[in-house]
Amino acid sequence: MEIYKDKNADIESRVSDLLSRMSDEEKVGQMLQVSYNTLSGEDYEKYKTLGVGSFLHVLGEECDEIREKAASTRLGIPPLLGIDAIHGHALRNGATVFPSQLAASCSFNRELIKEMGRVTAREVCADGLDWTFSPVLCIGRDLRWGRVDETFGEDSYVVGEMGKAIIEGYEDENLIISCAKHYIAYGEATGGRDAYDSEVTERKIREVFLPPFKKAVDAGCGSVMTAYGSIDAKPLTANKRLLREILKDELGFKGFVVTDWENVRSLVTNQHFAENLTDASRAAIEAGNDMSMNTHEFYECVLSLLKNKKIHMSLIDDAVRRILRVKFRLGLFDGKKRPEKSVIACEGHKKINHELARESIVLLKNDSALPLDGDTKTIAVIGPNADDVRALYGDWTYFSHPEPKRDVKPLGEYYTVLDGMREVFKKSRILYEKGCDIFGHENETDKAVKAAKKADVVICVLGDCLAQNGEYRDRADISLTPIQLELLKRLKGTQKKLIAVLVNCKPLCIQYLKENCDAVIEMFNGGDYGGLAAAELIAGRFNPSGKLTISFPRHSAQTPCYYNGYGGWHGGRYMDIDEGNVYDFGDGLSFSEYEYSNLRLSKKTVTENDVVEVSVDVKNNGAMDGKETVMLFVNDVVSSILTPVKELKAFEKVFIGAGEKKTVTLRLDVKDLALVTHGLKRVVEKGEFEIMVGSNTKKYIKDTLTVV
Ligand code: BGC
Repeated sequence: MEIYKDKNADIESRVSDLLSRMSDEEKVGQMLQVSYNTLSGEDYEKYKTLGVGSFLHVLGEECDEIREKAASTRLGIPPLLGIDAIHGHALRNGATVFPSQLAASCSFNRELIKEMGRVTAREVCADGLDWTFSPVLCIGRDLRWGRVDETFGEDSYVVGEMGKAIIEGYEDENLIISCAKHYIAYGEATGGRDAYDSEVTERKIREVFLPPFKKAVDAGCGSVMTAYGSIDAKPLTANKRLLREILKDELGFKGFVVTDWENVRSLVTNQHFAENLTDASRAAIEAGNDMSMNTHEFYECVLSLLKNKKIHMSLIDDAVRRILRVKFRLGLFDGKKRPEKSVIACEGHKKINHELARESIVLLKNDSALPLDGDTKTIAVIGPNADDVRALYGDWTYFSHPEPKRDVKPLGEYYTVLDGMREVFKKSRILYEKGCDIFGHENETDKAVKAAKKADVVICVLGDCLAQNGEYRDRADISLTPIQLELLKRLKGTQKKLIAVLVNCKPLCIQYLKENCDAVIEMFNGGDYGGLAAAELIAGRFNPSGKLTISFPRHSAQTPCYYNGYGGWHGGRYMDIDEGNVYDFGDGLSFSEYEYSNLRLSKKTVTENDVVEVSVDVKNNGAMDGKETVMLFVNDVVSSILTPVKELKAFEKVFIGAGEKKTVTLRLDVKDLALVTHGLKRVVEKGEFEIMVGSNTKKYIKDTLTVV
């Protein structure tokens, strides 16, 4: 009896049975992933019939063909088909495009993020795929880095909570697996240089970068991707300590590890760590990588290593076991049932996306300019990003991947800010002028000023563009481009009410906007409904509740500028700019004022094993129902090594009706007050901790907790 074919047998027995039947070639084949769209026709035929473990960047009908070919191999092992469904299944034109991770994180809404995962999983699976290379658990601390948009922001706790929520959403229904990436400290590359060396110690990794991956592992994520870079000069791909010893042995990760794009080759060509691909392949496997993304020679190299007894079979078996386990778990051997294709961008999914867009958008400034009167006669909508769907979507959609495409027409429903304004302000006359493009190749600021003069209100939609973000696109200067500033200054000159809307991948230096606009709205890459949400916010159709998960500096050179640094800087500012950021982590207004009072702790003196309930009363003093994210920060008053001046340990987003007062209770596990010693131990030190509960890093009430 072939146990592996028996649906009712347990997964481990099925894996063992199948493994015992596999040849070396079949095993090593499972460890290779090839990219569908960069293969020549000849190679494509070769890899389809070879029985490789996985293909990436396949869509729809192509999946069926690859699967059929795999079914006709000796053992008929199904391939695992993977795709970068980073914010929705967005490499498929017509599928739901959610806000970017950075945008969505500003919702502080775990439930909605989980829904984003669920929706994506259904659409990916319906389209024939099994695996998304998401979520990104990198931490967006260096704003020069080109991939900040892919992160859940600058805070390790938020990244971990959002990561856990989206992984649960992706994997709950066993439709697809997720991939926590990029392991590890990839965003910390020196100078914000993508894929470069990160000068961090293991202690720092354990303090800041590992906790989100631990949450991902505990949430049962199916795979982890190894980062491109190196840590303290050791390539991640060859980093046995971090991959095998910490991720697999210590955290107990049961899924499989896939390298990033051609990481094995990169050990030879880029990082000059290995002399040839055979050595590189061995180093990668020994370090703990189970699947190699798109270094095709890996297959022959590993077979030769086996033949020459240069690699232990147990390592190969363990890798294949991990990959097969996932395939059985997903039901790929058992005629997997997939959702109907009609779920792709169905009404239910659109509704969730719209809700998320509304909760993600952040109102940064409002000098009583908003909500805007529905009877406003003439509104000028101006700016390079007012009507640009590519800016609205950001990175990782069919516009940019697998190959850049400029002029594709979106098949699904979407709203730019201009579309949204037209939809929401039906009674108003909307005048649209682009004014300029991001770089100033087009300069029509005269026309924009003319339109502004005719209007009662000016909505100016600024930001950045894809050419300034993503891999290979780190920026030394994150200012708003000069032409955009010029446009804004000229619009300011018209003395009309000026509302700025930012459609951008990551924080930019926007001090001028803060000082000169009547209102500032940040949406980042808002996805299909970003433009509609912006217009609805402007009209006051909902009460904004988004808060920044990342800080905005005054000047590029001020980066990193995250809120949870250590103390100790002489003076605390650069001598040539004002102190502090333009906007901080946690900033975000609503049309209501929330008043915090009556902070109480269930225990004031605790030991390491206690859990404290921290309660606070929050009153919505406004005339509109709203949602408020209540944040709990701590400060370890005296510690044996430096600890952050303030660090988020819990948050809850709650609905509070107009005029209503609610008690909100946050759970604080005393173990989470631990610091990581130089001996790499997590230790809760005795003494006082300040507990700060409030709206953001500046507006809170506080009490003290004593650990004995
Ligand atoms: C990126 C990964 C991505 C992979 C496959 C790489 O360049 O770093 O995040 O999943 O390509 O597209």
